[in-house]
Amino acid sequence: MKTTFSVIKADVGGFPGHSSVHPQLIEVARQRLSQARDSDLLLDFHVSHCGDDLELLMTHTRGENDEEIHCLAWDTFQEATERAKKLGLYGAGQDLLKDAFSGNIRGMGPGIAEMEFTERASEPLVAFLMDKTEPGAFNLPIFKMFADPFTTAGLIIDPFLHGGFRFEIWDIVEHRRVFMNLPEEMYDALALIGAKSRFVIKRVYPKEGKLPTDEPAAVVSTEKLYHIAGEYVGKDDPVAAVRAQSGLPALGEVLEGFAFPHLVSGWMRGSHNGPLMPVGVRQARCTRFDGPPRVVALGFQVKNGRMTEPADLFDDPAFDYSRQKAMEVTDYMRRHGPFEPHRLPMDDMEYTTLPKVMARLEDRFEQM
Ligand code: F6R
Ligand code: MG
Ligand code: MG
Repeated sequence: MKTTFSVIKADVGGFPGHSSVHPQLIEVARQRLSQARDSDLLLDFHVSHCGDDLELLMTHTRGENDEEIHCLAWDTFQEATERAKKLGLYGAGQDLLKDAFSGNIRGMGPGIAEMEFTERASEPLVAFLMDKTEPGAFNLPIFKMFADPFTTAGLIIDPFLHGGFRFEIWDIVEHRRVFMNLPEEMYDALALIGAKSRFVIKRVYPKEGKLPTDEPAAVVSTEKLYHIAGEYVGKDDPVAAVRAQSGLPALGEVLEGFAFPHLVSGWMRGSHNGPLMPVGVRQARCTRFDGPPRVVALGFQVKNGRMTEPADLFDDPAFDYSRQKAMEVTDYMRRHGPFEPHRLPMDDMEYTTLPKVMARLEDRFEQM
């Protein structure tokens, strides 16, 4: 039996502003998914949030891109939107860009990370949830955990990791993808994924060895809202799922990838760079300048598709120093105000209101 893990998320209303999710929305989603588990559509589920994003974590046996699972997520977001409207929550239904469900939730606004795999005797699985940033924010930590021996000691020590991993990298502007073997092609791969607003790691696969080579060890959501909507309507706050241990990076190697609060884009109005701060769920409220960008890690053991209670993995003093560092960087970046590199470069502001300012000034520019 193969298990599918689906993480599907949307911002369907913030509380207050764009900072967090109201408990009632979590409750609405829990009830909906609980019914789906009772009717055997789902094996199990967990509902959470990161910042203003409602996160549905689900296990089932129906594979990726299953119509019924996507429809369930869509209906859940619709019902949560209704509640958000009733409560007057901010930006109710913001990420639901289409009126009616049409078979697959992709391209409709919500973010999706799904993987189907053969369960090992013991299957540790981590869901990473981010707010106020974009899919490319995962490039650096995913690269570190699967390709950097300074992060993952197993790449040196464990014979099953020693051969490295196969990366599936998407060009989200040209809508094409490339598979690359690391470490052999590390420099070429870094040439791509260092440009994180264009090239994003979609999946990582094991190479020949202990585990099936066609079942991902990691998957990241890559939806870009402005590509779908044609303008800035909210953010592509991404999610990912990563399997750990025996033949894969250890749990601590997976988490180590996030110890350095690297700079990501998407903070305040989707228009600023800032540090990615690892936090527990209770701290996943985006307050200062609508941020700084956050990442939550929920760890599970999965057995026959049933999930344990989540372990809130960044809710730990081991990440205090990363948080403190993130706040130092927050302060430093904030002092740039409207100047780059705190504000995004012009090209990345294409979908904001900045082009309107340029259009207004167009007549006043003189050729020199
Ligand atoms: C939303 C976000 C926020 C908003 C900002 C302005 O995820 O990143 O920083 O862009 O709060 O929001 P509006 O335009 O809705 O007032
Ligand atoms: Mg929002
Ligand atoms: Mg958000």
